[in-house]
Amino acid sequence: MSIADQDQVLDNPLSGISTLLDNVLPELSQLLPSLHKIQHELGYVPREAIPIIASKLHTTPAAIYGAITFYSEIRLEPPPETEIAWCSGPACRLKGSENIKRALEAVLDVRMGQKTPDSRLGLRLVQCDGTCEQAPLVRLNGRTMGNLNVSEAIKLGRDLLAGQQA
Ligand code: FES
Repeated sequence: MSIADQDQVLDNPLSGISTLLDNVLPELSQLLPSLHKIQHELGYVPREAIPIIASKLHTTPAAIYGAITFYSEIRLEPPPETEIAWCSGPACRLKGSENIKRALEAVLDVRMGQKTPDSRLGLRLVQCDGTCEQAPLVRLNGRTMGNLNVSEAIKLGRDLLAGQQA
């Protein structure tokens, strides 16, 4: 993508989406690559982009929406400044991740998948990335914090609320 194209995407995300998809083949096999491309550029896939993607790929908006909601890594909202990604995988669950989730939800006063009202912090469910030896874990803007216990999760949430980098 050229610098001019990048500027267009950032200045006017919706018109830029068509530009982003310029080189994408108009077929359903390009659905996930298209969603990843848009999310890579914008940080999320705006709802308003769904009909544009559907038209480009010769499918329905419902098919696009279904794919977005199926793949947990694709988001429909801008990400929070700091995202706490909670692993929902089996090894983490066996080691008590559900209690960590509850603790973080309680401290931050948000449910999984939500952001604080100021969009500073958010909780997001993610799948196992293969680092199960550190279970149970969360990832803070991609940085793994492993072998967590409930007390540490509460401290993490409080520190983040207080604006302290964990
Ligand atoms: S199950 Fe959580 S990292 Fe594998």
